[in-house]
Amino acid sequence: MCGIVGYIGEREVVPVILEGLKRLEYRGYDSAGIAILKENKLKIKKTEGRLEKLICKVNSDPGFVGSNIGIGHTRWATHGEPNEINAHPHTDCKGEIAVVHNGIIENYTKLKEKLTAEGHEFKSGTDTEVIAHLVEKFYNNNNNLEDAVRHAMQEVQGAYAIGVISTREPDKIVAARFGSPLIIGTGKRGHFIASDVPAILPYTQDVVYLGEKEIAVLTKDDIDFRNIKEFEKLEKESVKIEWDVKSADIGGFSHFMLKEIYEQPGVIRNALYRLVKPEGMTALGGIFALENYFKKRGKTIQDLNKIIIVACGTSWHAALIGEYVIENLARIPVEVEYASEFQYRCPTIDKDTLIILISQSGETADTITSMREAKKRGGNIFGICNVVGSTIYRETEAGIYTLAGPEIGVASTKAFTSQLFALYLIALYLGRMKGNVSLGKGIRLVKGLKEIPEKIEEILNTSEKNIIKIAEKFYKHKNFLYLGRNVNFPIALEGALKLKEISYIHAEGYPAGEMKHGPIALIDKNMPVVVVVPEDSVYEKVMSNIEEVKARGGKVIAVATKGDKEIAKKADYVIYIPRTEEILTPLLTVIPLQLLAYHIAVKRGCDVDKPRNLAKSVTVE
Ligand code: AGP
Repeated sequence: MCGIVGYIGEREVVPVILEGLKRLEYRGYDSAGIAILKENKLKIKKTEGRLEKLICKVNSDPGFVGSNIGIGHTRWATHGEPNEINAHPHTDCKGEIAVVHNGIIENYTKLKEKLTAEGHEFKSGTDTEVIAHLVEKFYNNNNNLEDAVRHAMQEVQGAYAIGVISTREPDKIVAARFGSPLIIGTGKRGHFIASDVPAILPYTQDVVYLGEKEIAVLTKDDIDFRNIKEFEKLEKESVKIEWDVKSADIGGFSHFMLKEIYEQPGVIRNALYRLVKPEGMTALGGIFALENYFKKRGKTIQDLNKIIIVACGTSWHAALIGEYVIENLARIPVEVEYASEFQYRCPTIDKDTLIILISQSGETADTITSMREAKKRGGNIFGICNVVGSTIYRETEAGIYTLAGPEIGVASTKAFTSQLFALYLIALYLGRMKGNVSLGKGIRLVKGLKEIPEKIEEILNTSEKNIIKIAEKFYKHKNFLYLGRNVNFPIALEGALKLKEISYIHAEGYPAGEMKHGPIALIDKNMPVVVVVPEDSVYEKVMSNIEEVKARGGKVIAVATKGDKEIAKKADYVIYIPRTEEILTPLLTVIPLQLLAYHIAVKRGCDVDKPRNLAKSVTVE
């Protein structure tokens, strides 16, 4: 939510900031702004709406050429409606200090009242503006910008990642963070601040993760790190980011979402190469850390008594599949929790309980709060994250990077399949360790996993045309129902979420057997029902559910196994997937549903990669 970027160095700053904002636009896109320092003056431009408007405005102003220091922001509104006044950067009374901020200042009302009483004049309805006025308050003739920022940030409660510049010290950017992510990029021709890695990939792959309550002072040739409270100097290591610049580019695709759907075979191949051993075992570094934890307590991983998986949205759907798979293969009880509810649940956790947090971004506020709550209660914390160096990854004792590469489309696709893959490996590992999965079965499952990339390729190569035709037929419908059973029930939920998010069509996912307990009342000739029905142990039952839909005039779009002749007689439309092990089918059944949602949204003229009201990482609770 909200993306910030800043640069100081030898380059012309405006193209760097605008390119960075383009690459961060997935974090928020209701307004945008930029501030640069030129001839010791602040020059600011802001616009309501998409970044494109800001780019036009800035590029047509010659005053925005000839500067080497600036900050920019792309916004997802929390406080104050998305208009030009509320767009960042925000300034102090004198227009000398400019601030960009990602996060929420929880005590901003009190601070605003106090600052107003002291004579500060506010222009916007945002929480962020208090930061600009606080910095102004603490900035005097005897100190410098970093000193003022650190005093200001000790007054605020809530989450922040900020970039601050001032006309009085036009040779530095001051950055600070608590709760919201912020990276510092170190380049040969200057230094960067950014909310996420893709923003700076064209210039550098070397980054330093700013820690909680830390402050960084960036000049052209140097970066100084300190903690906010004591202002002690910190030595921080730089990390090389493996992603190359192409991985965050759209390539020849019309949308990032489509590109990311097509990247799935490659993502899984990469995970196979890194994490799977041929003899039906896995090589999960994170699991070894967990094993050591048990060892230190004179126990083994077999003593694990319960697993709780906590996540939001699509990651929560992956968690539901994890529940089926881990219970099936490892025979360990699993609970799945919405992160936004977990903290109120008073869950029973002890030292032998494992809490798995799943998050693509590793920055989702609800999931972070759950992680901290679970830690307090003494559980073992394990993270499954995609974004390298993210908060969840850093704060968990053990975990797995899914390494799916940057996911830019707001609707999650490749991150989901990579999370599933990680969960399969965890289940397989625990199953083997507990003796529930024989060597033979382990080898069979590994073989099945190894065939998945090719099978996804087959779906992508053979069904997209058919899916486009189905999309053309149904894109004007107002409601959809998605049904699935057993391990494919969460796929029904995921299919419905994808459609909702990017096409704004109301869609509900349901366990197929649950339909008769309510949703069946909705079915008539106008209701398309997407049924996930691979040939598996619940096939006959799902076929009966299809009969129930047909008997009421509903239109059935089935995702079924190649070679299934029966389904062709019953469903109105069929999208075929190759056969695989029953437990692995979600890795395949989800692909047609991603494509269906994508093509329906495209037909409806929706902005697929930036659906309204959403943001890629939700950093507020
Ligand atoms: C998925 O398409 C969504 N945009 C959303 O539900 C997302 O999965 C959720 O916000 C969780 O994000 P995370 O995986 O980064 O924690």
